[in-house]
Amino acid sequence: MARITVIVDGVTYEEEAEPRLLLVHLLRDRLGKTGTPIGCDTGNCGACTVMIDGRSAKSCSVLAVQADGSDIVTVEGLATGGEWHPMQRAFHEEHALQCGYCTPGMIMAAIDLLKDDPDPSDEAIRAGLEGNLCRCTGYCNIVRAVRRAAQTMSDSGREVTA
Ligand code: FES
Ligand code: FES
Repeated sequence: MARITVIVDGVTYEEEAEPRLLLVHLLRDRLGKTGTPIGCDTGNCGACTVMIDGRSAKSCSVLAVQADGSDIVTVEGLATGGEWHPMQRAFHEEHALQCGYCTPGMIMAAIDLLKDDPDPSDEAIRAGLEGNLCRCTGYCNIVRAVRRAAQTMSDSGREVTA
């Protein structure tokens, strides 16, 4: 067992972790962060995507011990002061989900995309989200939501953060 310290959604946790423990299992099973779902457990679907030190990562592909010392943000930590993150609001307003299973990971990946490209084309959005699978929506409304969030953040001068 290794002793690790992580910050998750602004709270510091000290945990004992077996070397084989995946970050997504630490988040869900130990810390109760069940807003981060598991889709495939093999790095393919993107449902488990979180931010680690400001960049998106598939938390089923990261060992908990590798995350030692990291600042992690899950979808549960995006809202501030009772206000949704602009990306969350855009997904709601553009009806960018049906079952919602992919949505937490899709939102985290979309925020990361805007960090590199604050005004992406539709093609860039589709390319940037290719590691996140949605089997319900056909992606059109997801692309619209990311475009809307980019516009909202640009109009408000809000830095793209998560
Ligand atoms: S559950 Fe992690 S990529 Fe599918
Ligand atoms: S909304 Fe169902 S998988 Fe994307």
